[in-house]
Amino acid sequence: MISLKLAVLASGRGSNFKAILENIQKGQVDASVQIVISNNSKAGVFEIARNNHIPTMHLSHRQFETQEAFDEKLLAVLREYGINLIVLAGYMKLLSPRIIQTYRNKILNIHPALLPSFGGKGMYGIHVHEAVLECGCKITGVTVHIVDEKYDHGPAVIQRCVSVHDEDTSETLAQRVLKVEHKVYSEALQLFAEDRIKVQGRRVYIR
Ligand code: GRF
Repeated sequence: MISLKLAVLASGRGSNFKAILENIQKGQVDASVQIVISNNSKAGVFEIARNNHIPTMHLSHRQFETQEAFDEKLLAVLREYGINLIVLAGYMKLLSPRIIQTYRNKILNIHPALLPSFGGKGMYGIHVHEAVLECGCKITGVTVHIVDEKYDHGPAVIQRCVSVHDEDTSETLAQRVLKVEHKVYSEALQLFAEDRIKVQGRRVYIR
């Protein structure tokens, strides 16, 4: 077992963060959230964190003159809290190569589609589900993946399918996918906690 000390980076409402927290509290994920960091001072994640007595930090590029200065601060905070896994949960910023290199294979993201389809620039939030419906796909899903230097690009840890129904709107589809997100992210974290993940190139093996 690895004692997972998580930093959650999020920009918005934080439903994935909340689900992870609940699953930790239920004993389904052996981890602790040490800090929640957001670029958005009004992010819903902050309220959830405060209600659960978890430290928060508003960290935005706007507070720094250079990318290097931002990275220095983020790395210092991650070190200070002893973070060994970074969880992106609706974080809308691209992490710099320096952060990715420092935490190689130790940064996870969740995406509300089956990557490499419907990922990359502009593919966030409701736009993803609109694109899936426009395409006429019968299946979409959830991908938890390791973060590398490009948006939505690193290798998948878990993917789970979600059926598209004839009567679906982007909203109903988003809701159904989100329910699956709330389970799958915790499952992926538990695999890391149990030290069962081995990454070789683009293949993530589960031992
Ligand atoms: C989720 O759909 C996630 O897949 C994507 O951003 C959304 C975040 O939602 N990366 P929430 O803030 O966790 O509710």
